[in-house]
Amino acid sequence: MISMTKHLLSVDDLDLTELERLFTKTAQLKATDHWGEELAQKTICTVFYESSTRTRLSFELAAKRLGATAISFESKGSSVEKGESLTETVSTLQALGTNLLCLRHPSSDASQNLAKAKPWKLSLVSAGEGTREHPTQALLDAFTLYEVVGGLSKLAGKKLLIVGDITNSRVAKSNIKLLTRLGVKIRLCAPPVFLPDYLSEGSGLELETDLDLALKNIDFVLVLRPQRERGSFGQTSGEAEYAKYYQVNRKRLEAARMDLSKAFLLHPGPVNAGFELSAELIYDPCSLIERQVSNGLYLRMALMLQIILV
Ligand code: NCD
Repeated sequence: MISMTKHLLSVDDLDLTELERLFTKTAQLKATDHWGEELAQKTICTVFYESSTRTRLSFELAAKRLGATAISFESKGSSVEKGESLTETVSTLQALGTNLLCLRHPSSDASQNLAKAKPWKLSLVSAGEGTREHPTQALLDAFTLYEVVGGLSKLAGKKLLIVGDITNSRVAKSNIKLLTRLGVKIRLCAPPVFLPDYLSEGSGLELETDLDLALKNIDFVLVLRPQRERGSFGQTSGEAEYAKYYQVNRKRLEAARMDLSKAFLLHPGPVNAGFELSAELIYDPCSLIERQVSNGLYLRMALMLQIILV
């Protein structure tokens, strides 16, 4: 396989050819139980300065499935508590032989600043940073849609509704960039405070503050969690109001005449069940949520092969 970008800090780091190759490889890996040991001499390190369940575990499992050594760095209990900087921490991990480093960080420009700090031998993949981007989540979301519709070209013209805290969501930002490029029509629905300023007219995105209207005539719905840890509810009329007007539930989907026998509902997790999404829908046939998690594993395996193997 031909190598692509050395680092993956944004969905914009992949061109269309690289994206197609990545999705084809992801589908191949998903279709087989024999993954080989292609990364046998490689070391992958997850470096997480923020909480995570599925992203960190799927990076680590992806590495192990391909025969790599997977190590995990957590800032708590490390020399970060003695004042060590991110650049020094990553230099240490590189000196220990890390080939690929997956970084999650609360600062939105952490990986971009890190990439510029010195010439690296290792490759850097963003595993979600601040409110800027979460490229591998958007890639696995796009792959899930690609699977459902049956190919990249069939995504063009499909309509996706994103509901939730768009302002603070790195998942929304990466998905908007990536899916717009693939011809998906995106409608955003949130209270005004959760709709970022940069989404002015001319962005090509549809904005709607009424969820019942927003749910009309769409193919897929991506629900997002309000990012309380980033101060989501600081300026709004409160959580109860949000759940009343913006919770995606069966009643609303039925009222909008969505076909609940088809799979169309996405959520990157973690879900606050009964808040932004009613609990009953998580495991409903219309839900793609578990499939997103499984696809994330194969997508990250394919990504590691594409980035590490020259
Ligand atoms: C997301 C994240 O961390 O940005 N989670 C994930 O990686 N699957 C979404 C979120 O935390 O709401």
